[in-house]
Amino acid sequence: MVAAAQPPQSSVSTDSPYLYSPPSSDTTVVKNLILAQLNSPKVANFESSGLTEKYNELWAMFEHTVRDRQGSSVLVIGPRAVGKTAIINQALDKLAIEYDGRYIVVRLSAYFHPDEHGAVREIARQLDINAKKNHSSHQSQFQQPAINDTFSNILNILDHPNSSESMAVIFIVDEIDKFTDNKQTLLYNLLDLAQTSQVPICVVGVSPKITVRELFEKRVRSRFSQRVISLTKPGSVDHFWAGAKLALLLSPTHIAQLQDANYGRLWNQYIDSLFTRSPPVRKLVYELYYCTKNYRQFNIYSAYAVAQISPQCPFPIETHFLHYASVQPPGTIQGLFQSLSSLELLLAIAAARWIEKFDLPTINFNLAYKEYEEMIKSFNISSTTLATSSPSRSDTRILTNIKVNQKVWSAKVLRNSWESLYRMGLLIDQSGVSTNADGHVISNAQLNKTYTIEDSKMVQLDTNLEEIGSRLDDQDPFKRLTKL
Ligand SMILES: Nc1ncnc2c1ncn2[C@@H]1O[C@H](COP(=O)(O)OP(=O)(O)O)[C@@H](O)[C@H]1O
Ligand SMILES: [Mg+2]
Repeated sequence: MVAAAQPPQSSVSTDSPYLYSPPSSDTTVVKNLILAQLNSPKVANFESSGLTEKYNELWAMFEHTVRDRQGSSVLVIGPRAVGKTAIINQALDKLAIEYDGRYIVVRLSAYFHPDEHGAVREIARQLDINAKKNHSSHQSQFQQPAINDTFSNILNILDHPNSSESMAVIFIVDEIDKFTDNKQTLLYNLLDLAQTSQVPICVVGVSPKITVRELFEKRVRSRFSQRVISLTKPGSVDHFWAGAKLALLLSPTHIAQLQDANYGRLWNQYIDSLFTRSPPVRKLVYELYYCTKNYRQFNIYSAYAVAQISPQCPFPIETHFLHYASVQPPGTIQGLFQSLSSLELLLAIAAARWIEKFDLPTINFNLAYKEYEEMIKSFNISSTTLATSSPSRSDTRILTNIKVNQKVWSAKVLRNSWESLYRMGLLIDQSGVSTNADGHVISNAQLNKTYTIEDSKMVQLDTNLEEIGSRLDDQDPFKRLTKL
């Protein structure tokens, strides 16, 4: 047991921050508050984040649409987890307070509705739900059995001249770049509506791609306003830490909720000093900064440390911040290698050897198979010589034991292995993008999901010989094959 009931300290003493003993209800409150912040789709202590300027821009647009009844559109662009969704949510929260009942939000994500029909149905569904909320007698007005009716119906209702008193509609289209793969009818219609409709409509396109504008067809691009709100990743470790710690800090209103406000203040001091004082946290922050700069990941790591606090130990223990990292499975490629069957591994090695030999970026099954045959033949020859040349060593477990030649399996057998490599993602389609007949860029990332691959189809290998070699155990007889 740690000593209880110490007199409140005015600051956290570096050697024993855990000696402070707050009321046990307070530790529960703090734990719940901070865990909620860590898991929230918003940025905690938003005013202190560097996002306020971008947020104000977005808020001004929303207000313009709802209050001044002016349609508009904007693109919110930035890498993953930099706060795109967070500023949108923050602005919508404020809208809910200031203009409640005067607007409808429709959220779409190309992840959930990759095809336009699904997306249109989803729009109709959300509009109906909102309409029902406001008029309980409302019949499903937007959604129709036929998809074409649904869309024209939405357009008609929203475009109706006497809808001047109707509510504004805010469309949030997440991953908007994925809607550009096919005909961009949906985007075109939405934006056209935003420009011409009596109902004020605001379209917010969200995307991690900087080039998203280029992916739009001309008619879509010309209807999109030039407005772009772009967010960037933090530029320095200090900057990253300043953002990351926000979710761990208590706001003044939170502190006021505590029985012992001093605990709240000490908590904030403790968190503030973590980066400078605690080597484990420093390590974590540096690692994340140089790998992904992803705040969400930091939140996940911190959740364990925060979940462990108790009246006896009211501040998070520093080493707990590294707990998740230590129990995580190895990286994806590493994990993949451990799960390969020996035929798959041999085929992957053969493909890597061929690419290394001929210095070409892509390979197909036929070429890989040819290399596989040669490789196994020479492997068999050399392992026999090795086996006979080192008979004196007592621990030549591996090499001397392989007197049995590796069988050269037929192409028919190996074709299955090739397919599973493809399915696992170790083989990837040659290029992520190509152009369609109109010259528009289309992504073929989705095509990767087909489960068959032709023998002559050229693909890229998502690893190389050296990497395979470094993944294999020194005892592994196949390791030798990773040297040309
Ligand atoms: N600038 C920031 N400062 C602090 N935390 C941030 C910041 N940006 C993002 N986060 C954290 O990362 C999480 C994911 O952000 P989100 O807005 O969903 O990213 P995305 O840009 O992918 O939409 C947020 O919930 C928040 O906890
Ligand atoms: Mg998002």
